Amino acid sequence: MHKARLPGDGLGSLIMGADEAAAMIEDGMTVGTSGFTPSGYPKAVPKALAARGLDASGGPRITLVAGASVGDELDGELARAGMIKRRFPYQTNGACRDGINSGEIAFDDMHISHLPQYIDYGFLGPVDVAIIEAADIDGSGRLVPTTSVGISPTIAAHAGRVIVELNAAVPRSIGGIHDIYRPERPPSRLPIPLLSPSDRIGAPYIQVDPSKIAAIVLTDLADDVRPLAAVNANQEAMARNLLAFLEREIEKGRMPPGLLPLQSGVGSVANAVLKGFLESRFRNLQVYTEVIQDSLLDLLDAGVASHVSGCSITPSKEGLGRFLSGLEAYKRSITLRPQEISNNPELIRRLGVVAMNTAIEVDLYGNVNSTTVLGRRMMNGIGGSGDFTRNAYLSIFFTESTAKGGALSSVVPYASHIDHTSHDVDVIVSECGVADLRCLSPSERARAIIGNVAHPDYREALSSYLDAAHELGPCHNPLDLENAFGFHLRYMRTGSMRA
Ligand code: COA
Repeated sequence: MHKARLPGDGLGSLIMGADEAAAMIEDGMTVGTSGFTPSGYPKAVPKALAARGLDASGGPRITLVAGASVGDELDGELARAGMIKRRFPYQTNGACRDGINSGEIAFDDMHISHLPQYIDYGFLGPVDVAIIEAADIDGSGRLVPTTSVGISPTIAAHAGRVIVELNAAVPRSIGGIHDIYRPERPPSRLPIPLLSPSDRIGAPYIQVDPSKIAAIVLTDLADDVRPLAAVNANQEAMARNLLAFLEREIEKGRMPPGLLPLQSGVGSVANAVLKGFLESRFRNLQVYTEVIQDSLLDLLDAGVASHVSGCSITPSKEGLGRFLSGLEAYKRSITLRPQEISNNPELIRRLGVVAMNTAIEVDLYGNVNSTTVLGRRMMNGIGGSGDFTRNAYLSIFFTESTAKGGALSSVVPYASHIDHTSHDVDVIVSECGVADLRCLSPSERARAIIGNVAHPDYREALSSYLDAAHELGPCHNPLDLENAFGFHLRYMRTGSMRA
């Protein structure tokens, strides 16, 4: 399998084992990797590094920077080995999450679109080593990524040394699906010439300076993709509520009949809500998003969507098999871009994207918490949700009205952490209904959220909080500081938010 991909010229002599390549990584280094939402990340070298274990002086401990979350072979193995000192910008791995929440791993929760620029300007310090998974590479350093692009073009340009994992598990014929474009630095930055999700504006490969390539490691390893939970009745109801809302927007002339390009977030809820479009009358939808989960393959197969632009293919195991076996057709309908393009504010605003992301909790004022449980425990990170929410034509958040079997209300008086402020949140959808918050005052917003999004079991307690806040005296924003976290405190004391 590898034979046809082996680079000729001088690069063939760089082929070595994962252990030998991993030995290049030293204590205190910043290591940048390919990979985005467990897709297209290096596997063999991180596993070899983790197997090396900590030495007598407690190293190596590294700063690990990947485009977003990566698989267990990278985040999990290195976290369990105690080798991650700092991690940016997003993760979903249990061991890595535990390391962050125990304070062992320093984590800064960054917007996905900001990271390439942070690397470019050196905010994270120099990238010592880049490890990039490739489906193909030629002697002049033209590297074809696998199933994601992420920060690979940026780290390929900035890293002192580049280790390539050439993975035979992804066909070389994936070449052509990627569109690699890197914006210039201001003040020389030009308008990005992308007018439609299907436009191609760059090269189908990443150019790496061949003199920086330090190792080529041959692998044949599939991504550790995650299973998606089965769609539940609440999620089906959310999808129906969304579709009815969009139909009303079309009727009112606020949305074209064929909709505007859609973005959909990560996780089971996002996947389930997108699946709901299969039952709709819509055809040939355009999608400008970050992650491409199974439901988007379903929409393409059914003709509901005609083109999907994203940063990574992040399906289940079954979805990955479907993608690879239908690769030739999907290459015509999917474009994979670097994250600074897939999540670019200029493009999201220009295209008029309809952003659809998921909340952990929402508050009565319209603020959204997407990341931090009870204000303290990091779940995954903000990911691209802020990039899209702030810049979209319409920003929608989904949440089931309760969590943990009803013990938690997803609508709380005041969010225990705020990722998206009320200024950026247009619409909230739960299985109960839709709260359209556009142009409402704080009081009106709170009533709309209680009446349409909150679970009936929690409406009375939420209304009581709001009434008490009003009774404190006339104001613009009805906040009762003393009781704003009353729901959370009750949950911490009794295990339930119920009164
Ligand atoms: N309070 C506390 N925990 C809550 C909660 C609440 N109100 N609502 C949900 N949760 C917990 C769930 O119990 C679950 O925990 P578990 O894994 O321990 O069982 C977890 O949050 C995930 O919830 P789930 O209902 O399975 O939703 P999901 O898989 O759709 O994920 C987010 C939801 C918010 C965690 C996920 O969408 C995310 O990380 N978003 C931020 C990044 C993002 O939006 N990226 C999109 C960029 S394009």
